[in-house]
Amino acid sequence: MNALLETLRQICGAQHVLTHDDPTTDLSAWETDWRQRVFGKALAVVRPANTAEVAAVVKACANSLTAIVPQGGNTGLVAGSVPDASGQQIVLSLQRMNTVRAIDPDNLTMTVDAGCILHNLQEAAEKAGFLFPLSLAAEGSCTIGGNLGTNAGGTQVVRYGNARELCLGLEVVTPLGEIWQGLTGLRKDNTGYDLRHLMIGSEGTLGVITAATIKLYPLPAARLTAWAAVPSMATAVQLLGMAHQQLGAGLTGFEVMGQFALSLTDKHFPNLRVPLYKDTPWCVLLENSDHESESHARHLFENLLEAAMNAGCVTDAVVAENMSQAQALWQIRESITSAQAQEGLNIKHDISIPISQIPAFVEATDAVLLKEIPGVRLVNFGHLGDGNLHYNVQAPQGQDDKVFVREMEDRVSTLVFESVARFKGSISAEHGIGSQKVDKLPRYKDPVALGMMRSIKQALDPQNIMNPGRVIR
Ligand code: FAD
Ligand code: MLT
Ligand code: ZN
Repeated sequence: MNALLETLRQICGAQHVLTHDDPTTDLSAWETDWRQRVFGKALAVVRPANTAEVAAVVKACANSLTAIVPQGGNTGLVAGSVPDASGQQIVLSLQRMNTVRAIDPDNLTMTVDAGCILHNLQEAAEKAGFLFPLSLAAEGSCTIGGNLGTNAGGTQVVRYGNARELCLGLEVVTPLGEIWQGLTGLRKDNTGYDLRHLMIGSEGTLGVITAATIKLYPLPAARLTAWAAVPSMATAVQLLGMAHQQLGAGLTGFEVMGQFALSLTDKHFPNLRVPLYKDTPWCVLLENSDHESESHARHLFENLLEAAMNAGCVTDAVVAENMSQAQALWQIRESITSAQAQEGLNIKHDISIPISQIPAFVEATDAVLLKEIPGVRLVNFGHLGDGNLHYNVQAPQGQDDKVFVREMEDRVSTLVFESVARFKGSISAEHGIGSQKVDKLPRYKDPVALGMMRSIKQALDPQNIMNPGRVIR
């Protein structure tokens, strides 16, 4: 191992190979997952500066059969970006690779290093007069490499799609240390298997994404946000249908939030002032992006909300008057995860169900859980426009959260996933499988699909050094 560390130091420079041998270096930020559920121990944290260094690091690890865990912002929620406890795995951090390589305005693309922070890319796009629409609450620290590695979703998928739909090309270091130059920027390219789509969502198990060519869009003339109280999940789905009809491509966000989820935000972030939630089981946050004008956007929104009220889908609503009010409403939505974390350890589920089935799914699954664990608190929110719910479970009031999670997680997740399967949904909508769901996946994934996944992994990474134990075993 000392020989490997010496080689890595020669490749990246000694100051970019961090180990536990140096007592002044604290590696815990790279070794602990965002949810503080997994505490790993790395052989070293390696921070290459460019693609050639990544390739050399991977080759050195392949030669010594050393496992590599690619890491971007370490905001993943399924424990896929931290090393195991063996002290034998390398964390390959892309953080130093953070340059926007090129912007091509006529091609509507931007080519960027994998370690660029998502928020910085949104700003770079805007500075050039464009929109890069990927948006999620972790955007201040997650990286585009991690977003593509997980095929992240977020709050704009209803209009622009997942990270996958926003990527035209990739540069990847393979598990053998070769560099695949696939930064084409082409919108049409039918020259065989689509390796870009194979890499996207592979969670670091098939290679290291070092750069990407991503799509840009015109900036809308106005973005308006509304917050509506709805009497049931069924009426929230009805409102979604009306919003699609009346706003068309202008509908860029449609988020649902349960009353208990909002009460946690109110409790832990009282200065955010959550509107309208106390007398209704659900609230919906809608965004309308308009390419004409703000008054056009407002007119469409007001018509929609009036029609929804007449149809009994909405009981009360507010439309943000200006950008800062809109940001405040989004901040409430995006603070739910942190509020829930502050309430205590919890059991997370990131599921998708056909949108038409969501009301029946929620009713059935709530009933099963409340029967099994009287008093259990359900923190339900998510991207209803995409059929994606964060169906999270918190200990009954007064119960020790750590004991609850330790003793109940497997049982609770099995109940939820069985219900998801009955409704023909997916046990991971946008967060991925990581190490957290790797043992659950075989029960819910088609066996032929699993077999093909194993064959692909074996073919591309025969030594099983790329993020082993994640996604599939
Ligand atoms: P990391 O956490 O570092 O890594 C995630 C996975 O990708 C790991 O398996 C890792 O090995 C792999 N990986 C990282 N970089 C690379 C690379 N360059 N090449 C190959 N593989 C790589 N996710 C959503 O989809 N939608 C949301 O709305 C959302 N909201 C969130 C809100 C909060 C508050 C938090 C904390 C997380 C949220 N997430 C959400 C989860 C997380 O932010 C995303 O999964 C994000 O895409 C991870 O990016 P990252 O750079 O932090 O990746
Ligand atoms: C979100 O939509 O806020 C995230 O995916 C985070 C979560 O599930 O907690
Ligand atoms: Zn989400």
